Amino acid sequence: MYFLGIDISTTSSKALLIDGQGEITGVASTPHTIQSPYPLWSEQDPQEWWQAITDSIRKVIAQTNVDSASIAAIGLTGQMHGLVLLDEAGEVLRSAILWNDQRTQAQCDQIHQQIGKQAFLQITGNLSLTGFTASKILWVREHEPEVFKRVKHILLPKDYIRYRLSGGFAMDKAGGSGTVLFDLAARDWSNELLEDLQIDLAWLPSTFEGPKFTGVVSDSAAGATGLKPGTPIVAGGGDQAAQAVGVGAVEPGIVGLTVGTSGVVFAPTSSALIEPEGRLHAFCHVVPGVWHFMGVMLSAAGSLQWYRDKLAHEMDFDTLLEEAKSAPVGSEGLQFLPYLSGERTPYPDPLARAGWIGLAARHGRAHMTRALLEGVSYAFRDIFSLIQESGLREIHQVRVSGGGMKNAFWRQMLSSVLGNDLVTVNTTEGAAFGAAILAGVGAGNWGDVPSACQAAIKITGTTVPDEREHEIYQQAYPIYKALYPALRPSFRMMNDLTEKTF
Ligand code: XUL
Repeated sequence: MYFLGIDISTTSSKALLIDGQGEITGVASTPHTIQSPYPLWSEQDPQEWWQAITDSIRKVIAQTNVDSASIAAIGLTGQMHGLVLLDEAGEVLRSAILWNDQRTQAQCDQIHQQIGKQAFLQITGNLSLTGFTASKILWVREHEPEVFKRVKHILLPKDYIRYRLSGGFAMDKAGGSGTVLFDLAARDWSNELLEDLQIDLAWLPSTFEGPKFTGVVSDSAAGATGLKPGTPIVAGGGDQAAQAVGVGAVEPGIVGLTVGTSGVVFAPTSSALIEPEGRLHAFCHVVPGVWHFMGVMLSAAGSLQWYRDKLAHEMDFDTLLEEAKSAPVGSEGLQFLPYLSGERTPYPDPLARAGWIGLAARHGRAHMTRALLEGVSYAFRDIFSLIQESGLREIHQVRVSGGGMKNAFWRQMLSSVLGNDLVTVNTTEGAAFGAAILAGVGAGNWGDVPSACQAAIKITGTTVPDEREHEIYQQAYPIYKALYPALRPSFRMMNDLTEKTF
């Protein structure tokens, strides 16, 4: 018996097969393009996702020689928050507006003004940020009334693929809460909010817990993909929640920390906790009855990538990080702010900027690299502190994943900065793997999500804080923390100047 995980990410559509023991049998992935016709815009053609995922499904079935009749269930995951609009006939009305699109600040302000910022936060657990779905709907209503008039269905990217696979409209609760049109505690659409914002409930699909069945593969989708007609499809969930399943962060106390291009701290909670100022995201987990806090920093390993590409392109990452070891802990006072693309957590500020502060003539490249890794680590500590201050005091285990955490030096540094053990696990395929696990739970291969994770995910190592390093970082972190508030007015002036001279 096999389970298929499908991940409609920003960069590619991935199909991944696991067996009944949770072992990966095969993976295939097909790239996507992103369109940015105007500054701040980020869009994709849903048709491209469908082409890409049908190719990937066909490829993974061919590569592994798995009989499609032995695929017992399919789980879906993908980029969160993206807006897909369909008309009455189920035709796509315009390109999807993605999670990293930044055009909707005016609509976010309008939502906060109309509903009241605190009231909105109390209902949805979040502020209305440009990345989230709600403001995108208002933008289309305001700027493309001809399109808006024809809207009959509002979907997220992976739920468009669900529609193409099954002909039905459904969404998972993790994705639903990420639209910020959810009543977070009730785990369903907020009628009050929808009425106030004049969004018709009939346009929104029913929502389901991650392992629940939402439909089956249709005859026509079977023809396009090579899957067997009638194969059940579970709800699955947004990529961050599915990624958390992929590393076993499925119950309160076990936190997932991912150092990819962006950096994510994902903390399951047993109730709908809210950070009082909305500085953390608070969404439903794909695990029934579990919620989670999430902090997202936009440039984690992305900061290192930028630095290598622009300033040290002749060096590979390992050599660069090896050299950084020659600089002392705390980089002799040098600090790095990682806000290269603005920031989301803890400062929802698209205008925030990055940089080294505290350079002295004796500093060299080793110091600059080390300070950069330390700066990203302090930013993770910012998110950690917010999570703990918001009511989740008990963090028993931190499970790390992502490219940045493959490096033992950075892992050790992060452990010492956080003052926490960091645990590595055997699974590296993230969200697609998590979606396949959810399919396995739906099909009854495992009793529930935590027991599936226990069976399929193994701990491979633990990094413990170095006491001496931790003491030095305890002194360096407050210096880092004071920099953003002090520099914020300058960031505004820098952006004004950029606009004038662009
Ligand atoms: C989560 C988020 C991203 C997208 C794209 O809040 O914005 O993780 O889901 O991966």
